Amino acid sequence: MPIGMNAARLQEGLRTRWVGKEIFYSRSVESTNEWAKELARLGAREGTVAAAATQKKGHGRLGRTWVSPLGGLWFSIVLRPKLKAGVSAKLVFVATLAVAEFLYEAYGLDVETKWPNDVLVNGQKVCGILAEMVTVGKAVDYAVVGFGVNVNFKVKEALPQALWGKATSLEDELGKHVQRDVLFRGLLERFEFISESFLKDGFAPVLERWRRYARFLGKRVKVTNEHEARSGVAVDVDVDGALNLRLDDGTEKRFLSGDVSLVVR
Ligand code: BTN
Repeated sequence: MPIGMNAARLQEGLRTRWVGKEIFYSRSVESTNEWAKELARLGAREGTVAAAATQKKGHGRLGRTWVSPLGGLWFSIVLRPKLKAGVSAKLVFVATLAVAEFLYEAYGLDVETKWPNDVLVNGQKVCGILAEMVTVGKAVDYAVVGFGVNVNFKVKEALPQALWGKATSLEDELGKHVQRDVLFRGLLERFEFISESFLKDGFAPVLERWRRYARFLGKRVKVTNEHEARSGVAVDVDVDGALNLRLDDGTEKRFLSGDVSLVVR
């Protein structure tokens, strides 16, 4: 966020009921997810946000590094959902849908969601979500949902070469800077709205809206996880958030975790 950004400025005009009522902002942290977990352990209320201008040890799923230069939007929300662990795993869909809807509506971008936790613009990743949960028995004690959005930097100037062609930023897509505080508030507002609909009406309506952006559905993809790599047609994401893949022998295989890449032939 810009130098001079602070929690009060981020909160100015925020139209939410419980998300972002408490915002912690730092110029540099190891990881906003780690910070938010620490705040949650210390009793932070639901909706508390930890945000930073840069992260020294930002991380993604499967322990991957998340490069977090100045100019991005890196923040995490503390949640205390009264849900079982399996149900809470769907929060990642709530978050990616919030980002996809806001980026489409605010900037008219050609946005898609990619299972399980990515938001793409023109086929390249602009945002990743990392949802983490701490459980007590089968119930969730707290969850933290981290948003990493590539905003005001050029990928070729700020990210390692290995990510060129795979990642994009709002600046690269729009050819200009966007106001990060406006984007931040828009994402918090949309996240709260969709979370409430999820808690009230369940996952099905969230999934239905998420599918509208899920352009990989119906296409030939490769799914890779820690055990295997399989190619097939991405048939659907089901009510558990699992991806169903139709294999070449006509059978279907369900994936609860993994990475999807499009197969071009
Ligand atoms: C992924 O694509 O694997 C998820 C990336 C999530 C990155 C965000 S940036 C803010 C928050 N803090 C972290 O360390 N990670 C998440």
